[in-house]
Amino acid sequence: MSDTTGSTSSKTPPPGCPAHGSAVQLGGLEYQQTPSQLYRTMRRDHGAVAPVLLDGDIPAWLVLGYPEVSYVTSHDELFARDSRRWNQWPNIPADWPLMPFVGHQPSVLFTEGPEHQRRAGVITQALEGVDQFELARECQSIAESLIASFGGSGQTELMSTYAHALPARAVLWMCGMPQGSADTEQLVDDLRISLDAGEGDDPVAAYMRVGERIMQLVKEKRDRPGPDVTSRMLQDPAGLSDEEIVQDLISVIAAAQQPTANWICNTLRLLLTDERFAVNVSGGRVSVGDALNEVLWLDTPTQNFIGRWAVRDTQLGGRLIREGDCLVLGLAAANTDPQIWPESHVGAENSSHLSFSNGEHRCPYPAPLLADVMARTAVETLLERLPDLVLGVDPSELTWRPSIWMRGLNSLPVQFTPAVH
Ligand code: HEM
Repeated sequence: MSDTTGSTSSKTPPPGCPAHGSAVQLGGLEYQQTPSQLYRTMRRDHGAVAPVLLDGDIPAWLVLGYPEVSYVTSHDELFARDSRRWNQWPNIPADWPLMPFVGHQPSVLFTEGPEHQRRAGVITQALEGVDQFELARECQSIAESLIASFGGSGQTELMSTYAHALPARAVLWMCGMPQGSADTEQLVDDLRISLDAGEGDDPVAAYMRVGERIMQLVKEKRDRPGPDVTSRMLQDPAGLSDEEIVQDLISVIAAAQQPTANWICNTLRLLLTDERFAVNVSGGRVSVGDALNEVLWLDTPTQNFIGRWAVRDTQLGGRLIREGDCLVLGLAAANTDPQIWPESHVGAENSSHLSFSNGEHRCPYPAPLLADVMARTAVETLLERLPDLVLGVDPSELTWRPSIWMRGLNSLPVQFTPAVH
């Protein structure tokens, strides 16, 4: 990611740039720590639709307004998902860092119209078959075993030992992978590397292994179906091919793991740092629900989503959008749009935020409910098992990851009285 600040760029815009020289570099320290401040400045300087420069000074639009994000996502005849219509492809190098997000793949994510309805319909019915009580029980059991692995030490770093591990295991369980096997553990590890590579990791090799293991899972479930998402996708009358199912299963697993992990972590951060939640947090089921919802308004995991591509020339927020322009959905900015919060109070009283997006390509209907079960069970079980959990560092030492896409912490160190077994 570019490390320049959010100030106005003085560089000459690349040819065909919709930004006319006043575009904002999307990235930098403001994103890491206080993106809300940056969105406010951008809204003041540019209005609801801001010209921005992505990595390598590639121009795009950042849609910051709540009505504008709602409009873009609900008009897929104007703003569509197939990235092959992007007018910037001639300027994009093959090793561009955002390629994993925008490079066209034959998955549900990039399909449109009836083909999207077919693919998304299969995912929706397969996810609808997940029993939420059973999922909660499974998440609790995963949570207990993760807590047991660090509970005796009196301290841990929750991002790596808990928040990321729990949704990865839970979503693989939903897809029918056997819990606790070495095979599943390898897949959990490969998912982590391919979605979020650390130093010395090889994300491309890990992604290949994920693809191979999911293909094997699909073959296993064709032979021996079970009560799981993979088998339900295979049995759907839409008759998806094995290759289509592999692509869409990988999309489901990736789409579930990262945002749910950050939802868990951002909620724990809020509970452990905000005085409003400090009183008897461990007993406060209502407080946990409030914190989960407040995070979706104020620190939503998918803070920006790339994106949509204009089908033809059109107007948006007073801007001329050219056919093939790229639009980034500013979900976090839209959630805090002063137009919907005129009193400058952003509340947790309702769930009309755009954190799961909107329209045809929104997070498919049962997924937000399943994510809620995972996140709520993760947070509640941790607080029940380790009731005197406190932050292991001063709140000011917690730092956000330098990503403009996902909002999550670098680490969340905690301390507690060691649990005796
Ligand atoms: C069980 C957990 C989850 C599953 C299975 C899941 C699944 C998916 C899938 C399959 C898509 C692609 C939809 C399409 O292109 O038609 C998607 C999109 C999306 N999901 Fe989720 N998701 C989960 C959790 C979450 C969470 C926790 C968040 C954020 C709080 C989130 C936010 C989004 C967003 C912003 C999109 C993009 C929608 C768009 O293009 O407009 N998801 N999700």
